[in-house]
Amino acid sequence: MKNLISIRDLGLPEISALIARAGELREQCEGDHGVEPALSGGCVANMFFEPSTRTRLSFDLAAQRLGAHVITLDPETSSASKGESLHDTALTLAAIGADILVVRHSQSGMPRSVADWTGLPVVNAGDGVNEHPTQALLDAATLQQQFGSLDGLRMLLVGDIAHSRVAGSLIHLMPALGVELTLVGPRRWLPEGTQLETSTELDRLLPEADVVYLLRVQRERGGEVSDDFVSRYRLDRERSSRLPGHAVVMHAGPLNRGIEISDDVADSPRSLITEQVRSGVPIRMAVLEALGGGGT
Ligand code: NCD
Repeated sequence: MKNLISIRDLGLPEISALIARAGELREQCEGDHGVEPALSGGCVANMFFEPSTRTRLSFDLAAQRLGAHVITLDPETSSASKGESLHDTALTLAAIGADILVVRHSQSGMPRSVADWTGLPVVNAGDGVNEHPTQALLDAATLQQQFGSLDGLRMLLVGDIAHSRVAGSLIHLMPALGVELTLVGPRRWLPEGTQLETSTELDRLLPEADVVYLLRVQRERGGEVSDDFVSRYRLDRERSSRLPGHAVVMHAGPLNRGIEISDDVADSPRSLITEQVRSGVPIRMAVLEALGGGGT
């Protein structure tokens, strides 16, 4: 694996190997013997040009657990704030000695450009409305832990699909793993010309669902919260009572509590939201290890 820019860059064997390796790494992290420092002496650079809590911190910890040095670019206090281009910033980090770059940017396609400019392995940590591949992988790992296999699971992906890079990666990954994915939301947020099932009727679909994955309304990217959206699509206690007993609720975070999800559902036993966060470090370890030449 040279880069992880899009889920489409990965074949099924690579996807399965990353998820399996993340499971091993998770056990090692929780066990007494520690983890082999596959990136010992290496340097991972975090370049986040958009806010992040769980993604940035989990890449940071993942790299440290593999023995790498971590350097973090802060766009607010770096020369990016003086107008330095991303091209020049990326070449600077490469010259300083970064071996792997983790890039988040508001513009779709920027991680690919950084890979082209530097020749270094790049992980896309979210680019514009395009993709967020490690989020999708950690979601698959979470579901595998919960259900054993993803094959045949019925998942509803609900809300602001048009502006969500999480959706952009899930739409490729989940069907590849055998998930029956239905995209649900107001018509203005549903893609046209997709092969996937789409629906505007959440209530009708809930009784048949195994997984409801809620998307944050991306207000910074043009997603508008309307009363109609909240009344028809927010997963609240009443709506979630229509789900089968075994069904689970997912969300990549950060949550807009009260908009796409109510407090009681977010904090209910059905919620895998904290489990998703927990899967983030081992998945990112597996990805960094593979890019560092140690794994898949
Ligand atoms: C997502 C992101 O930034 O793309 N968050 C995350 O990484 N967990 C989703 C979002 O911002 O809604």
